[in-house]
Amino acid sequence: MNKLILANFKSNKSVVNTNLWFEKFLKNVDTSVLNKLDVSVAPSFVALTMVKKLVDESGKNVTLSIQDISSFPAGSYTGAISGQNLSGLKIKYAIVGHSERRKYFGETSHDVALKVGQSLQNGTTPVLCVDTEYLDEQLGLIDREELEKCVVAYEPISAIGNGKNADVGTVREVKEKIKRIAGNVPVIYGGSVDEFNINEYLMVSDGVLVGTACLDADQFIRVLEVVS
Ligand code: PGA
Repeated sequence: MNKLILANFKSNKSVVNTNLWFEKFLKNVDTSVLNKLDVSVAPSFVALTMVKKLVDESGKNVTLSIQDISSFPAGSYTGAISGQNLSGLKIKYAIVGHSERRKYFGETSHDVALKVGQSLQNGTTPVLCVDTEYLDEQLGLIDREELEKCVVAYEPISAIGNGKNADVGTVREVKEKIKRIAGNVPVIYGGSVDEFNINEYLMVSDGVLVGTACLDADQFIRVLEVVS
């Protein structure tokens, strides 16, 4: 498996700015760099349709992902974005249970387990975010069969968005723990990953989630280019 590099725009950027980012990124990123990795970008939902066109036209090896998915199927759930809403967009990964969803939107491990199910039912691989405090609870709430189809992201809350990236040894230990519980699933790391530290994390994991360091297209290209 190629290393997964998943860029999360969070709720940054207008549709216009998201398009500008993709235009610049797709024009300047080296095809050979993309081909040795699994690069996916999660912009806001409202930009997905426009951005998909740019990505398809470029023919470059980049996929689209989403930052969340409804815990419910299609139906009377005002404001929710269901898997069905997204069909046809070829979404590769759905980030589920990000700590910001837990903190600001009150998401529980139970909600997240439902999101894993919705994501899989719609042919999208869940990237299940966990921190050590609720790792056991979260993994325990997901059927083994579903868990084996997930990517698990170790995302220590203390390392997100603040430049205080986690100790690499700890990332290795947590990865081993996740694999003991969930089986041989891909485990990625997220938290202040940038072009200076990415290689350390890729040595002990199957990929990374990148927030801040992906917001500028040139910086994100540098992050990809340094991967050795
Ligand atoms: P960060 O965000 O790179 O800004 O720390 C990572 C994340 O939230 O996944």
